[in-house]
Amino acid sequence: MATSDLEGRVVALCVTGSIAAYKSVEVARLCIKAGAKVLPVMTASAARFVGPVTLSGITGEAVATDMWDASFAGEMHVSLAARADAVVIVPATADVLARLAGGRADDLVTALALVARGPVLAAPAMHPRMWNHPATQSNVTALARQGRVTLVGPVHGAVASGESGIGRMSEPQAVVDAIAASLAPRDLAGLRVVVTAGPTVEDLDPVRFLGNRSSGKMGFAVAERAALRGASVTLVAGPVTLATPAHVHRVDVRSALEMRAALWDAGGPYLAGFDALVMTAAVADYRAAAVSETKLKKQGDTASIDLVKNPDLLAELGAARGDKLAHPMLVGFAVESGDDAAITAYARGKLTAKRVDLVVANSAETAFGGDDNRAIFVDAQGAESTPAMSKRKLADAILDRIKARVRR
Ligand code: CTP
Repeated sequence: MATSDLEGRVVALCVTGSIAAYKSVEVARLCIKAGAKVLPVMTASAARFVGPVTLSGITGEAVATDMWDASFAGEMHVSLAARADAVVIVPATADVLARLAGGRADDLVTALALVARGPVLAAPAMHPRMWNHPATQSNVTALARQGRVTLVGPVHGAVASGESGIGRMSEPQAVVDAIAASLAPRDLAGLRVVVTAGPTVEDLDPVRFLGNRSSGKMGFAVAERAALRGASVTLVAGPVTLATPAHVHRVDVRSALEMRAALWDAGGPYLAGFDALVMTAAVADYRAAAVSETKLKKQGDTASIDLVKNPDLLAELGAARGDKLAHPMLVGFAVESGDDAAITAYARGKLTAKRVDLVVANSAETAFGGDDNRAIFVDAQGAESTPAMSKRKLADAILDRIKARVRR
């Protein structure tokens, strides 16, 4: 998940009294690394577990603990809420969950949670018996029903006592990812986006296939960012080992023909079923003329396989849409070798041949497997090359272009 949504944002980090309090220091550090400002808040019992000096040292901000601090002019909880884009309680004890569920405001943390402007998150940490207690579970249900506080975890694992169960605090990175997600702009709400990702795999017999090295990372990044920004996303994925991003509808396929069926399914009559298609999949250009039902046996010193051409899925959609229609927007990818001028020329050829709106061209030398990507955007207006950036940032840049066109 992109932590870039934290850049320039202000996070009030509230620490309550659990052994996991030390993990809040790491959460603060990761937020700051992602470009956020962190305002530390601690309950009196939290200060017994981790020193306020540590948190103020890391954040460069005084730790707020006491609502009744006479030296503070104004209302401390209201003033913190005015500054904070998000309020996170890390860790959140069983007691604080109870007080949040009841709408109490008997210390700075609960008062701040009650008066917060933006998202409020809590990362519970407690002994599994406390978590499973009917009283805690009823508080958790109440919080879910109220919809104002989002819980991150807890997860299954070892807790401080050495026992194991559900009650362990989520890892700091997962907490920071959740904060970033809660602050992501919802500027694509209402947009229906289909993304294809990964390779297609063409079977030769029950044990062998033709494949390619596409990792699927680019397409998964587009799907993840689109969903975070509020779009409803269908991800048509070839065989990859990546986890499905949150709030994404995933359709797993294997071959180019299966991917084609999934796309036409999503498109429906007149391709009215989606607003934009981002075709990052490395679709196999050829498949075996016949798939053997039994395992092929080795024979002479050389062998050959008869291949037939797969349909060009993107070009078929481009042709079906025709030149007159602007809907849906079609985005293709191209991996090319050569200098920028050559890459741009190849990409422009694909733009017209496939009748699409945008081709995102990568250099074959950098496109596969890694986390960073450099691209050239080629459309009817011209070509624009990006600096090297994370696949998530590139995903955002592609989605910005989709937004600009579809929301015109
Ligand atoms: N594509 C497709 N169906 C295919 C092949 C490719 O939809 N059978 C899509 C890809 O998902 C990608 C774009 O078309 O968006 C890539 O174009 P393509 O011409 O296949 O790229 P290369 O295979 O790299 O091109 P070539 O071998 O022709 O240079």
